[in-house]
Amino acid sequence: MNSSRHILVAVAWPYAAGSRHLGHLAGAYLPADIFARYHRLAGNRVLMVSGSDVHGTPITVLADQEGVEPQAIVDRYHAEFVADWEKLGISWDLYTSTGTPNHYAVTQDVFSRLLEKGYITEGASIQLFDPQAERFLPDRYVEGTCPHCGYRDARGDQCDDCGRTLDAVELIEPRSRMSEATPVTRETRHYFLRLDAFEERLGDWLTTRQGWRRHVKNWAMGMVNEGLPQRAITRDLSWGVPLPPPADRLGDRKRIYVWFDAVIGYLSAAKEWAQIQGTPDEWKRWWEDPDAESYYFIGKDNIPFHAVIWPAMLMGYGGLNLPTDVPANQYVTFRQEKASTSRGVGRSISWYADRLQPDALRYALGSVLPEQNDTDFSDSELIRRVNDELVATWGNLVHRVLSMAHSWYGARMPEGGSPATGDVALLAKIDAGLEQAGKLLERVELRAGLRQAMEGAQAVNVYLNAQAPWLLRKQDPRRAETVLHTALSSINGLKTAFSPYLPFSSERLHAMLGQPGSVSDGGWRRSPLVPAALEAPRPLFAKLDEDLLD
Ligand code: MF3
Ligand code: ZN
Repeated sequence: MNSSRHILVAVAWPYAAGSRHLGHLAGAYLPADIFARYHRLAGNRVLMVSGSDVHGTPITVLADQEGVEPQAIVDRYHAEFVADWEKLGISWDLYTSTGTPNHYAVTQDVFSRLLEKGYITEGASIQLFDPQAERFLPDRYVEGTCPHCGYRDARGDQCDDCGRTLDAVELIEPRSRMSEATPVTRETRHYFLRLDAFEERLGDWLTTRQGWRRHVKNWAMGMVNEGLPQRAITRDLSWGVPLPPPADRLGDRKRIYVWFDAVIGYLSAAKEWAQIQGTPDEWKRWWEDPDAESYYFIGKDNIPFHAVIWPAMLMGYGGLNLPTDVPANQYVTFRQEKASTSRGVGRSISWYADRLQPDALRYALGSVLPEQNDTDFSDSELIRRVNDELVATWGNLVHRVLSMAHSWYGARMPEGGSPATGDVALLAKIDAGLEQAGKLLERVELRAGLRQAMEGAQAVNVYLNAQAPWLLRKQDPRRAETVLHTALSSINGLKTAFSPYLPFSSERLHAMLGQPGSVSDGGWRRSPLVPAALEAPRPLFAKLDEDLLD
C-alpha cells in the first residue's frame, strides 16, 4: 500500500519592512523549499505556506521614518519578496500575507476562543510612553539595555544578542525612537496570553520530542524552566488586526500584537489555500488529522515563538496539530558578523538573484546551511563553491557524459548491453545514495543530503576515469557503449538526488536526456532510462568570474 503522508511545510513569515538577505534565504526559505521538494518527489502531499508579515512596529517605525503609510512599505517589500521567490524557485503552495480578510478572521477566531476559555485575560499594564510624541512606545519604538545580558541596543520586543523575548518596560535605560524625550511609564489596559497555564504541558511535550535539534530543544526547555510569564498580546497601535467583539471594548486604538497574529498565519494560509482550491475543508488534513506532520522552518531568533508560544496557543485552542519539528537554523555570518540588511551587513537576496543562476546560489547556500552552528560565508566562498564543486564536479560530469554520448552515437541513446560487475556496482551505489539522501532529508539534515548527492557524482567521475570509454571506443566498442549507458543511467539517478537543491538544472538535464515528462514524475528513485533522442548538450552551469560579485 502506498499511503502518502501529509506534510505541512510552515515557513517563517518575513516582515515586509526591508529586503531579505542570504542569511534569511539559508535560514528558512531555501531549506523549506528543499524539504518540500523532496517530500513531493517522495510522493507525499505537501502544503508549503507562508506570506509577508505586514504588521507590527518593524513596519510602522519605517513608515514613520519615511513619512508614508504602512501599506506603502508593505506593498514595496511584498512585491520584492514575491519576485525573489519566483527567481529562486521557492515552490510555495501559497505565499500570501497577513493583510488578508481571511487572516483577520482566523486571527480573531483564535483570539476569541482563547479568551472564552480563559487563556487570555484582560488587565492593567504599565507601558512606556513618550511624553513629547504623546504616544505609547511598543516594541521597536524603544531601545535600551537588555536586562538579561546587558546588550546596549536591545529592542523593546527582543534582544538581538541573547535572543530572549522582552517586554519594552523591562529594558534598562530605555530610549524612545520617536523623540529625544526620556520615556515615562503609564498605565494602559491590555490582553494577556496566560502562558503560565501551559507550563507543565509544554514541559512534558518538549521533553518527549524526538529528533529535534539540540539547540532548539534546549532553548525552548530553558524558557519553560525559567518560568513563563503572562505576555501582553495587544498593543497601543492603530496598525494591525483589530480586536474582535467583545474584546474591542478597550477601544479602537488597540491592535493584536504582531507575533500573536503572525504565527496564526500558518493556519490561516492553509485555510486560504483550501478556499482557493475550491475544497474549503481540505486544510484539515494537515491540521486536524493526527497523522499529519508539520515542520517549521525558521531562524533561531524565532524559536520562542514557534517552539513555545505557538504550541501553547494551539494547546489552548484545541483540536489542531502541534509542530512535529521546528528545525530552526543558526545564523549565517558574513566575516563573523550577523547579516542584517538594515545594518548593511550582507546584500539582499534580489541582488544575488539578479547576478547568479538560481541553482548556483541554491548550491552554494545549500552546502553551508547553518543547521548546527553559526556558519561564516562570503562572496569568495560562494564563488569557490560554485566553481570548484558544482561546476567542477557535477556540471562537468554531466557535460562530459552527454558530450561523449552525443558525439559517438548521435542522438541515439546508447544501449546497456551486458553490464559487468563494475557497472552494476556503480548503479547500486547511486541507488543506495538516493536512499541514504532520502533518510537525511527526512531528518532535515539537508546539508548532508547534498553532500550525499555530490559523492554520487564523484563516484561516477572515478568510474569514468577507470573505465576510460574513450579508449574502449576503439578496442571494444560494445563495452564502451555499456559504460556510456551506465554513466547516463547514473546521472539520471543523480538528477533526482540533486533536484530538491537544484530544481532548474535537474529539469534541464531531464530534458537533455530526452526523458518524458518532468523529474517529479519519476519519484524518489532512479528511473530506468527510456530510449530516446539525446539533446545536444549545453553546460548546466556557468563558471563564475572571480570578480563577479565585487
Ligand atoms: N516576521 C518575523 C521575522 O521576520 C517572523 C514571523 S514568523 C511567524 O522575523 F511565525 F510569526 F509567522
Ligand atoms: Zn540580551
